[in-house]
Amino acid sequence: MPESFLEINGIEAGYGDVRVLWDISLSVEKGEIACIVGSNGAGKTTLLNTISGIVKPTAGSIKLDGQELVGCLPDAVLKTGIAHVPEGRRLFKGLSVQDNLMLGAYLRDDRESIREDLSFVYDLFPILKERSTQDATTMSGGEQQMCAIGRGIMSKPRLLMIDELSLGLAPRLVDRLGDTLLEINKSGLTILLVEQDVMTAFEIAKRAFVIETGRVSISGSTAELGNDPKIKEAYMGI
Ligand SMILES: Nc1ncnc2c1ncn2[C@@H]1O[C@H](COP(=O)(O)OP(=O)(O)O)[C@@H](O)[C@H]1O
Ligand SMILES: [Mg+2]
Repeated sequence: MPESFLEINGIEAGYGDVRVLWDISLSVEKGEIACIVGSNGAGKTTLLNTISGIVKPTAGSIKLDGQELVGCLPDAVLKTGIAHVPEGRRLFKGLSVQDNLMLGAYLRDDRESIREDLSFVYDLFPILKERSTQDATTMSGGEQQMCAIGRGIMSKPRLLMIDELSLGLAPRLVDRLGDTLLEINKSGLTILLVEQDVMTAFEIAKRAFVIETGRVSISGSTAELGNDPKIKEAYMGI
């Protein structure tokens, strides 16, 4: 079988002696939106941090387009084309919206194309253009999420990973962000979404991996899993 765009095999990781991820294998195809869902503490953030090179796995392999990422430092992972929008947005206090966006491009030197990408981000999120000189951390939660996603886009990624898109945001705003992600995806970008809110994730993504206590317990199309009585009961409260 040909390899997938993102191919994760047998990943084990944790903190000190505490193992958090157990034999995680999953794959994401080029051009798709996939999601990782699971309860609080299941290991979703640890998995994204492992992909980004922030957490070092003790076993396993992570390949993007055939290139091994295990052993790479976070900057090197970013350079291969993986952008990570972290849980809680993590914008820089004291820096303007535009400076926060430009930080996403700090490893790039293609100035012309950086300018085009900044216009692309401002077209996606016009409010960011209006607020371009404001301290990014003084904006609302939704606007900060837009800025964090925009910062991710500014690295010109091939894979955009978003940790908890919807956390703390009003449903209407989450719907709008979801629509924007679909639009970005149409422009060719592969997206890996991590969500505690399964309903939201399934509305946006085509394929899902459910993580329970550090293992992938179920995976499949979101259309299928959204109708699975076990998933409905455990994660959707219906
Ligand atoms: N920096 C850390 N040091 C020690 N344990 C951690 C750290 N970060 C997360 N954990 C533990 O790892 C487990 C998985 O956490 P996390 O990956 O944040 O889950 P999720 O994102 O699914 O809520 C939890 O038991 C959590 O307490
Ligand atoms: Mg998390």
